[in-house]
Amino acid sequence: MSDLHAVPETPELQALHARLAEYSLGGHWQTREQNPDLVPYHWPWSVIYSCLMQSGEAVKLGGIDDAAKRRTVQLVNPSLTDRKATSRTLQMSIQLVKPGERAECHRHTAAALRFVVEGDGTGYTNVEGEEMLMEPGDLVLTPNWTWHDHFNPGRNNIVWLDVLDAHLTRYLDAGFHENYAEGPAQAIIKRDGYSKQRCGAIRPRTTSVGNAALPFAYKWRDTLKALKEVAAAGERDASAHRRTDHADHRLLGANDSSGRIDESTPTHEQHHLSRRTRTRHHFGREIKACNKRLRVERARLLLRAVVELASLQKHIDQRASDYFFGH
Ligand SMILES: [Fe+2]
Repeated sequence: MSDLHAVPETPELQALHARLAEYSLGGHWQTREQNPDLVPYHWPWSVIYSCLMQSGEAVKLGGIDDAAKRRTVQLVNPSLTDRKATSRTLQMSIQLVKPGERAECHRHTAAALRFVVEGDGTGYTNVEGEEMLMEPGDLVLTPNWTWHDHFNPGRNNIVWLDVLDAHLTRYLDAGFHENYAEGPAQAIIKRDGYSKQRCGAIRPRTTSVGNAALPFAYKWRDTLKALKEVAAAGERDASAHRRTDHADHRLLGANDSSGRIDESTPTHEQHHLSRRTRTRHHFGREIKACNKRLRVERARLLLRAVVELASLQKHIDQRASDYFFGH
């Protein structure tokens, strides 16, 4: 035993430990299992991209027969030996959809954000019936449990970075997945830009945003314009990790005009670093984001448990009524 709770082993303790182990029991004083240290890791883009293109030849997409439902190359942190994960809570992957291909519709409790790397702007992600065209630099949010599929009607590949909080939901035993029963894709009922038009600074009076997580697409042209305007104005982010006199700027994702930060997807920031700017080392962004997410997931789990219990109680009452009263 080597931790703070270490107790010198005596013959009595050894006998007790053997007996506890036999019955799958453990003493609080015994050494606790520690999570392995998470190591930083660098995946060179040239290698990722080349493996992705190779997968484009070797892996069929579409979900029919032996075709995969998604063609992604996952970033697997070598220090997490018991799972395919990029960090303890996040899964990051690079996805490829070739011309004419469709990644079929499904939904899951993990929330996703997608940062577009390559594409000609004709391909799209359909989130809850909204067509979200994908151009390089765009950021598309797919809140948890929203239907989504991807289609590439163009002549060029679409490549993007997927970030899902899949390992957090799995850790909470709340990792659910459902395929769309009505076909490979949802109908498009909202055109590109719908969410922005409904939830932007100028929006219909009838729009009710509430606390619901919203699908949203941040266009790169808007983000870049905002970053450049902030830089030109000379404003500085007081909380940014500056080391030099040069300013750096970041925009936090907020998906309605109130400026409310979307806590239902992993926190996303877009930075603009001026020349010769170096940021200070820091940590904790992911942990901070996940703590918020953890609270949301706990509340959701509790609510689901209450609903399921109520439904079970109703079923039991009905069975009891049938048994005793014969109807
Ligand atoms: Fe998905």
